[in-house]
Amino acid sequence: TRTQDDTNLPSAAKKDMADYLVKLEKQFTITPQRMRMIVDSFIDVLDRGLAEKGNEVPMLPTFVFGWPTGQEKGSYLAVDLGGTNLRVCHVELEGDGKFEVTQTKYRLTEEQKLSDAQGLFDFCAECLDNFVKDHFGDDDGNVDLDEPIPVGFTFSYPCEQDRIDHGVLIRWTKGFGAPGAEGEDCAALFKKGLEKYNVPVKLVALINDTTGTLIASSYVDQNTRVGVIFGTGCNAAYMERVGNIPKIKDLGLPEDALMAINCEWGAFDSTTHEHLPRTPYDVHIDETSNKPGEQAFEKMIAGLYLGEIFRLIMCEMIDEGILFLGQETYKVEKPFVFDTAFLSLIESDPTDELLTVTGLFAHFFALDTTIAERQFMRRLAVLIGTRAARLSACGIAALVSKQGLMDGDEATSEGKTIGIATDGSLYNKYPGFPQRLEEGVVDIFGEKGRAIKTYHAEDGSGVGAAVIAAMTKARIDSGFA
Ligand code: GLC
Repeated sequence: TRTQDDTNLPSAAKKDMADYLVKLEKQFTITPQRMRMIVDSFIDVLDRGLAEKGNEVPMLPTFVFGWPTGQEKGSYLAVDLGGTNLRVCHVELEGDGKFEVTQTKYRLTEEQKLSDAQGLFDFCAECLDNFVKDHFGDDDGNVDLDEPIPVGFTFSYPCEQDRIDHGVLIRWTKGFGAPGAEGEDCAALFKKGLEKYNVPVKLVALINDTTGTLIASSYVDQNTRVGVIFGTGCNAAYMERVGNIPKIKDLGLPEDALMAINCEWGAFDSTTHEHLPRTPYDVHIDETSNKPGEQAFEKMIAGLYLGEIFRLIMCEMIDEGILFLGQETYKVEKPFVFDTAFLSLIESDPTDELLTVTGLFAHFFALDTTIAERQFMRRLAVLIGTRAARLSACGIAALVSKQGLMDGDEATSEGKTIGIATDGSLYNKYPGFPQRLEEGVVDIFGEKGRAIKTYHAEDGSGVGAAVIAAMTKARIDSGFA
């Protein structure tokens, strides 16, 4: 015989879920008015970053001067270390904005991300060495070249540069923490690895993935104004007039020259927490991360964290006896087991009964779900994914405004496109992310925001690195170091 309480349990849990949703909607919704406030403070922070070194958002000069012509040619290698994988590519630039890429990917272990930096860079060198032997060697792996092959090293972490083939790591981000790299020139550490393996290459440039995306996109599309990565991390780059970068005045570069800036906008609002509407879940992620007090903006947006935000909310509701009643939940209670790809799956489940969600929970976490629970999950994924897109829209709006691209009639003129070149799994694979981003931009600017178009840029970290290596070579050949 059932007690009164037992009979009431399912509907009580349903009501609790509904109440939770109301609370979460409040915490995760970002109104247009709030977005405009975020944009205003974002612009101030970007300006401060250009004025002086050592700011929260460091606005890093990249020593990539100006746009590519689209005529860059030649054979280049790119090594891409930036998040989940290590990738080695061979890029053949054919001019006329055309190129061909061959690549190999290697998965990085957690251990490689966290122990001994030189070991990590040696591993990069070893992978490149194998790649060169496979692609340029004879049957025995002997490589005989007239000159070393130029390599672009896409190292997607904040680096202070005073030349293009050099970069002092300010801090690791995205869960990396290998000791021995922060404060060191990572191009030099990589070169050491190259020497160890005697790889017949020459490192010509150290590049951020956002800068690569900006340049790769511009190589094929001249409307490009900003490059953004929505991947494991989140960040943007754009082209600035040297005269607008007061902190590099001493270099005596021509004021009208253009230089790409790697914003490192993931660090926005990390010190004072006055601008972003952080929830207790965001605070928890920050405080338990290997880098507390850093990358506040990134931790609310990027692929590394969205699944974890979702999981933390589920865990809280398990503790309160609302979700998965009477089941063993330990599998889902382990940090970072809930991949952001699961949110994509939950949002894109085409069935009325949300059977993909049923399968996901059964398969990965041995949990049964009720339809009410699955509907709740779907709403939750929408809230987290939408917030990420709307916050990103604030960053894009700030960069576009700062460049004066929304001033006057220019932005509203018929057919005008302000191109935002993007790459990364969140943009490419999360259903509805691009649409939510563009809706967010329109919420900020009104109808004229429709001139801002986001699109997927082909392989910034590979092609971009190659184009930048080609531009650098041309610049050095012409005597302008
Ligand atoms: C992190 C890194 C940044 C990179 C971004 C996207 O924010 O600090 O350098 O561009 O992730 O990969």
